[in-house]
Amino acid sequence: MFEHNHQVYIARDIVQHYRQLNQLQPAEQSILDLFGDEWSSMKMLDIGVGGGRTTQHFSRVVQEYVGVDYSHEMIAACQKRFPSASQSRVFEVVDARDMSQFADNSFDFILFSFNGIDSLSHQDRLQVFQEVNRVGKTGGYFFFSSHSLQGLEREFNWRNQISLNPLKTYVNLVMFGLLRFFNRSIPPQQIKDSAREIIQDESHNFRLKQYYIRPQEQLNQLEADFDNISIYSWSSGLELTTQQDLDANIDMWLYYLCRIK
Ligand SMILES: C[S@@+](CC[C@H](N)C(=O)[O-])C[C@H]1O[C@@H](n2cnc3c(N)ncnc32)[C@H](O)[C@@H]1O
Repeated sequence: MFEHNHQVYIARDIVQHYRQLNQLQPAEQSILDLFGDEWSSMKMLDIGVGGGRTTQHFSRVVQEYVGVDYSHEMIAACQKRFPSASQSRVFEVVDARDMSQFADNSFDFILFSFNGIDSLSHQDRLQVFQEVNRVGKTGGYFFFSSHSLQGLEREFNWRNQISLNPLKTYVNLVMFGLLRFFNRSIPPQQIKDSAREIIQDESHNFRLKQYYIRPQEQLNQLEADFDNISIYSWSSGLELTTQQDLDANIDMWLYYLCRIK
């Protein structure tokens, strides 16, 4: 099931899509601003770098930048997009589940942006957390995003698709119908009751099967390898500082900033 996601990420149209993206998401911009002058002494690993959307923003502020992806095609696109390779900016084909190319305690800041980790199975996801813990320096940072089951729960209810704009309502209901069709084996009550689910969502026209998780469950998963975890709304870029903020949040994905143990 998850090998299929890899096939999607090597497809020409998908690589083409990612190589023309260049804007940071609001939560990523918040983190870029948060660390200010500290970047200049950091060695950064950008996992699932895709077509290099984040490269231009981070590689110019850090001391050393390594962009990796398990898709050869994505790495080839990055090498073409950023041809002036130097010792301080390199791209490599690496699978996050096995980063044995890198020694223990190698990186100060590790990014796995735009829900790249959600294309992996549950076991592989836990393996990635362990690998990040190993290649990251103790006290360093891991920043990643993951789909929120809390946000999806809202999408699974047709009543939430109705708006004052008839055209918008029509489009929402079509997308709702497709979402329910592609996930017909999952009743809405199961979405409500689960801590995590695999969902065939609308990204890339329902070609990917993605991992969705409740924020509290994500915090539990991270406990073994990370501490001092803060959660950011991907869309506003603001930290969700209270339980109330978190419970009310309906973003489709959230960013987690963690300290490596
Ligand atoms: C949604 S795309 C995001 C690309 C890029 N970070 C961006 O934000 O535009 C997810 C990326 O993660 C990569 N990816 C998924 N699983 C991976 C793994 N196990 N190891 C390395 N890269 C992986 C995919 O190949 C894809 O390029």
